[in-house]
Amino acid sequence: FQELPREKSFSGNLMFKHDGFWCAEKVFHPIISFQKHFKSEDSDILLATLPKAGTTWLKAIVFSIVHRNDCTVDKSPLINSNPHALVPFEYQVYGKRENPDLRSAPGPLILSTHIPHNALPRSIFDTKCKIIYLCRNPLDQFISQWHFIQQIDVEENKPIALDKAFELFLQGKEYFGPFWDQILGYWKASFKNPEKVLFLKYEDLKRDTINQVRNIAKFLELPFSIEEEKNGLIEDITKLCGFESLKNMDGNKPDKVQPGLQIKNSSFFRKGEVGDWVNYLTPDMVSRGASLIEEKFGESGLKFDFV
Ligand code: A3P
Repeated sequence: FQELPREKSFSGNLMFKHDGFWCAEKVFHPIISFQKHFKSEDSDILLATLPKAGTTWLKAIVFSIVHRNDCTVDKSPLINSNPHALVPFEYQVYGKRENPDLRSAPGPLILSTHIPHNALPRSIFDTKCKIIYLCRNPLDQFISQWHFIQQIDVEENKPIALDKAFELFLQGKEYFGPFWDQILGYWKASFKNPEKVLFLKYEDLKRDTINQVRNIAKFLELPFSIEEEKNGLIEDITKLCGFESLKNMDGNKPDKVQPGLQIKNSSFFRKGEVGDWVNYLTPDMVSRGASLIEEKFGESGLKFDFV
């Protein structure tokens, strides 16, 4: 990989352009290993996102839907475990071994990735493996990433100026970016094959969590029964996975660190709101961001909600 194009991300750490996306040096080998060796099965569920699009939330919801019988508000594994421990990223599991034992836990395999649709392991397309993609408006995603990176990934802990980070963002130079290619790949795939790829937006999930949870379950062919609906199971899952609820779980207290990621569990919960970009970006930044978004997404029909 020494010959691949390279750039520094806005954390200052090295990224390589591989298969059309910017891959962080430290996850490069595990990701290649996943691409090469992953053997999908029909029951697999893959959660795809850009970093800071709401991955943690989606993991909690899907885990709770799949394991609904063990996920009541008072006894869910989410109480003591961060969602990233229950639903790992591919680079966490492939970081340890080339062919990890992925299927030892009960229930279907739920795995998470940030890599683009066109870079996914081919075997995913030979099975009925379902893909759920969660997208967030790019300005909030950028602001969330900028905050997150300050906590976890800054060389010598130097703070990164927002305007410098924004320039890189506009050039698509961020982990798993360019963001427009990553988002549009899943957007198009969801039209081509809606039974395989479900495309969700963070803002819709925020506005109408109950219906979105119901839709996710239906898409996974695990719909809620009339009995479960009557018993308020969807409301329970929504509440359990809500921002304040997850943030305050024992497993997400600031002293808990995610093994394999070396990130404080609490750093996955900052504000959890739509429209926080307004507190950080200047009018000029907003205007440049809006032009880029129009240029890249204008023809696709994909619209973002910014507030
Ligand atoms: P903010 O930094 O804007 O607050 P990811 O999980 O992909 O790393 O994304 C993290 C972002 O999702 C953070 O956004 C975080 O606060 C938000 N988030 C985490 N859990 C959430 C929840 N249950 N509901 C809504 N947003 C949530």
